Amino acid sequence: MTARGTDWSLALLVALLVATGLITAFAGTSGSAWVFALHGALGFGVVVVLVWKGRRVWRRVADPARWDGRTGFGLLAAALVLGALASGFLWSGGADVRLGGFGLLNWHWALGAALGLLVLVHALLRAKRPRVRDVTGRRQLFATAGVAVGAVAFWQLQRPVSALFGFRGARRRFTGSYEAASFAGNAFPATSWVADHPRELPAGHRVTVGGRCARPGVVPAETLDAGDELVATLDCTGGFYVTCEWQGVRLAALLDRVGATGDHVRVISHTGYRWSFSIDAPRGFLLATYALWSSFTPEGRGA
Ligand code: HEM
Repeated sequence: MTARGTDWSLALLVALLVATGLITAFAGTSGSAWVFALHGALGFGVVVVLVWKGRRVWRRVADPARWDGRTGFGLLAAALVLGALASGFLWSGGADVRLGGFGLLNWHWALGAALGLLVLVHALLRAKRPRVRDVTGRRQLFATAGVAVGAVAFWQLQRPVSALFGFRGARRRFTGSYEAASFAGNAFPATSWVADHPRELPAGHRVTVGGRCARPGVVPAETLDAGDELVATLDCTGGFYVTCEWQGVRLAALLDRVGATGDHVRVISHTGYRWSFSIDAPRGFLLATYALWSSFTPEGRGA
């Protein structure tokens, strides 16, 4: 592969990794498992192209006499790409590390985003246009096909190999999240944003309903504890998931009770976290007030 072809391949792979990485935040259903698979496979592709690049430039980097204005950028990019790769692979292998109060996946997000930004700025300032010979020809085709096949093989083998060595990574969900306190009542981790510690609800905390509805006001406690149930999985982008038998009131029943007439609903939590959806969406939603302790396993409930 030509030098320029290698650099463009790296930039493209990083761009795709950042894009698929960001999409993972919105990919919660099994139909979107391909986003995670693609992300992992692209990660392997970066390793291969980095080895090519390393073979070409290591002598220049190892000799300070040959450093120029671009060396600092190159070293920073290398540190970020190695950090993103290491945190990604360690996470998927099952390492449970916290650094400076942040979990491994939080670090991965930050390193990945910083790398994406750096590559973008560099491409805007200095990128040289790819030439025809950088992207065509038998060598380029074989190299690209080899990386693609290797990446898919890596993706296929990764979980079985983790299972073989007994790594925790084999037990992670397709989203990369690890299980935490499923069916164990309210023992699930409490979080609403990165590395925060949501405070307890104060005694007498009330839920109020306002906006376009016939009967706005404070919702009485007995309405919230209606005994409606839903077995559902909460999968946090911070890297844990919990499947619980949640209890509370169906959101649709609450909206019917207050005579909601608008075309969308916005739910705002005590911590300030908010989310909006169309008025028809809450038919299957539950405003949960607690999670039941249950001796059923997630498998036993078919959740
Ligand atoms: C903001 C950008 C990014 C986000 C939000 C993100 C998110 C994620 C998530 C959620 C996982 C866990 C998936 C799993 O365990 O299967 C993951 C894994 C991984 N990420 Fe990223 N990522 C980003 C950028 C990057 C970049 C730039 C690279 C490489 C340079 C990278 C390389 C990897 C690797 C190698 C894995 C392990 C994949 C596996 O073994 O299956 N990520 N990333």
